[in-house]
Amino acid sequence: MALWDGRFSGGPGDDMVAFSQSLDTDLRMWREDIEGSRAHVTMLGEVGLLEDDEVTALLAGLDQVHAELGDGRFVPTAAHEDIHMAVESRLTELVGDVGAKLHTARSRNDQVATDVRLWLRSRLDALDVALDELLGAILDRVDEDGDVLIPGFTHLQRGQPVLLGHHLLAHAWMISRDLERVRDARRRMNRCPLGAGAMAGTPHPIDRHRTAELLGFDAPIDNAMDAVAARDHLQEAAGVCAIAMTHLSRQAEELVVWSTEEFGLVRLSETYSTGSSIMPQKRNPDAPELVRGKSGRVAGAVTSLLVMVKGLPLAYNRDLQEDRQALFDALETTTACARITAGCWRELDVRRERYEEALRGHFLLATELADFLVTKGVPFRDAHHVSGSIVAHCEERGVNFSALSVADMAAFHPAFDDGVLAWLDPRAAAERRTSFGGTASAEIARQVAALRSISS
Ligand code: ARG
Repeated sequence: MALWDGRFSGGPGDDMVAFSQSLDTDLRMWREDIEGSRAHVTMLGEVGLLEDDEVTALLAGLDQVHAELGDGRFVPTAAHEDIHMAVESRLTELVGDVGAKLHTARSRNDQVATDVRLWLRSRLDALDVALDELLGAILDRVDEDGDVLIPGFTHLQRGQPVLLGHHLLAHAWMISRDLERVRDARRRMNRCPLGAGAMAGTPHPIDRHRTAELLGFDAPIDNAMDAVAARDHLQEAAGVCAIAMTHLSRQAEELVVWSTEEFGLVRLSETYSTGSSIMPQKRNPDAPELVRGKSGRVAGAVTSLLVMVKGLPLAYNRDLQEDRQALFDALETTTACARITAGCWRELDVRRERYEEALRGHFLLATELADFLVTKGVPFRDAHHVSGSIVAHCEERGVNFSALSVADMAAFHPAFDDGVLAWLDPRAAAERRTSFGGTASAEIARQVAALRSISS
């Protein structure tokens, strides 16, 4: 018998019971459901809608349900339909008639909205911690290996020499914005729907400000219909996760590519690698590959939530029961991926010697030749053309710039003199880029300090 069956003479068929239940998903938020009920009961007592002894009995009963759910003595079934019904039915079994007063001045519509907000708030906090840990791991890696000179890539082709710190900090800044987005989303969602009822509010003298306070929300939601119908906080949180996952996935992609024998720039820790069941020599970068793969699922979660809500008339519709799977998956997956990625960075072995090899050849200093001419008053476009001609000349002869004398270069442009030799050193090239945000080590130090102050 369902708690709502007053107007029914039969009941739903078994297949409908199985189809309509949300218990399997809702079970993840049974603590939040009880927490919401505790606040509701306390408030009902304070405003005189419950007697003191009723409050005492209901709170003791809720504690008992909490204990039984915690240790598995009470196992809700599909017949309970959802976690709200499960908790209320068990409570009523335990405390008797007074259990029937719990649902005064509330509806499952505001109850589920409250539970999900409580769940989301705590999981945004967990994601905050995980992203903060990841940011710290990247910054520590910069402290450790940031001075290594590497080829900066465009189009995955070697472009200009930069310091590894410069490259890693680009990832760190993206993660710092993910952290900001998490904090922003949390601030906006921290409003309480409880007491909105089905959608219209209630004739009883409840105090929604008090329940909001008891549950740690900043305020009650202003409009009771908005309180039960809105799901933009879920969309926003999943969106924040999806964006963060694109960042994690880009880091993962580089860890995969850089750890190949072909690139050979890093070695992933064994902790985050696995072997092959057939090829004994393999050490595969499974952790970053999984992160890259899971980013697709989280992008899918945002799409689910957007599409699910867009055609819904106000206020509550049962479609909204489908919101949690996507939300839970997005938050849990992103938090797990941030933790694993932090571990990968912490235990990464940067193969310094390989970077030096990667810097040799490939005309990484072609921009330097052009910039040298610019210091001599040659317009950059012309200088770029001259440098390009020197590259073509060297390619034809199968040599690098180091094979050219100053006189050879002067044949391409009279402004070349001995001063150019100081420009043909990759580290000097990187260190010369002292413009704000450039790859010079002073700029790296400035950014590390700025990011350390963002991280909590
Ligand atoms: N299980 C429902 C959900 O998750 C709870 C709200 C039910 N409300 C209703 N009017 N049927 O959305």
